[in-house]
Amino acid sequence: MIRVGVIGYGTMGQLHSANLKKLPGVELAAVADLDAERRRQAEAALGVKTYEQGEELISDPHIDLVAIAVPTDGHGALLKRAVELDKHVFCEKPLVRTKAECRMVEKLAAKSTKKIGVGHVVRFSPEYAAAREKVLAGSIGRPAVARTFRGGSMFPLGWQDWYADFDRSGGVILDLAIHDIDYLRWCFGEVTRVYAKSTKGLTDERMEHAFVILRFENGVIAHVEGNWANYQGQFYTTLEMAGSKGIVSFDTRHTAPILYTKAGAQGEQANVTLPESPALVSPYEAEIADMIAAIQEGRDPKVTLKDALATTRVALAALESLETGQAVNL
Ligand SMILES: NC(=O)c1ccc[n+]([C@@H]2O[C@H](COP(=O)([O-])OP(=O)(O)OC[C@H]3O[C@@H](n4cnc5c(N)ncnc54)[C@H](O)[C@@H]3O)[C@@H](O)[C@H]2O)c1
Repeated sequence: MIRVGVIGYGTMGQLHSANLKKLPGVELAAVADLDAERRRQAEAALGVKTYEQGEELISDPHIDLVAIAVPTDGHGALLKRAVELDKHVFCEKPLVRTKAECRMVEKLAAKSTKKIGVGHVVRFSPEYAAAREKVLAGSIGRPAVARTFRGGSMFPLGWQDWYADFDRSGGVILDLAIHDIDYLRWCFGEVTRVYAKSTKGLTDERMEHAFVILRFENGVIAHVEGNWANYQGQFYTTLEMAGSKGIVSFDTRHTAPILYTKAGAQGEQANVTLPESPALVSPYEAEIADMIAAIQEGRDPKVTLKDALATTRVALAALESLETGQAVNL
């Protein structure tokens, strides 16, 4: 039995808790949240022990796996504590908020004897995985260019409105476009050069729209577009990958019939849209099931710490490019 503790009982913590409850061989043992009402909700919905502070949960000797689902600027300190106490860890994306935290986590984790997985959930999307399979099978010939889009809906609302605070969330690139940066790295390998432009500074944080150009070691160039423009519209994503023999493309507006966005009532945090397809396995269920299977089977999770560090460094390089107006070499 793997005993799991979830830190942060907001949008993602609630989702992971519900998914963990369905898995055999797993006991959802505890939830931590700074907010007393959230703790009460977790106790009522899940019948679990609760802690106020994430660190208290990590110190509980009965917890084997810690799932971190707090705002991004809080990941680093909790990861540090969990790795120091040699726990298995599943951390939401983005892994951390800063380059210094990347270095800290990388150094500490080198001593870990446990599994560390990261929530780059697009790798578990059946459509994105199938598109990658086509590319790897040579269906489009030699890959040359790629283009992705993600966004198009209401601005995400979080605890203390943290998404609107660039220092906490890293804006639309680190929070949202990172999904596609990670996916493209999975398809094409390492990124050598990054250039980014966004409306940051021109518009309110709630209106940020960003464009990131990536050059990969294998010569592929990609255009990643992330949008937090707070439209009253439907959240959607698109993907195109073209090569010498063809193109593979995908657009959730034609294939994802269910979009769940919780209404943002007073005192609630919501407006984070989670795309779903009734015909397919939920990628959120699949990623947490993979983390559990990795521990049970003694193998690495599908998205490793190494993957997440490389992806996060590319996204942070894009933020550096926003600041300097220059391309950044990696
Ligand atoms: N993979 C995805 O598709 C996806 C989608 C949304 C969010 N995320 C990521 O998940 C993370 C959480 O986002 P969210 O929207 O669920 O956040 P949220 O604002 O809905 O909830 C965060 C919760 O964490 C609690 N918290 C904060 N610090 C804490 C601490 N030290 N100890 C205990 N509790 C603490 C808060 O009280 C709050 O209830 C972020 O890093 C975000 O980028 C990923």
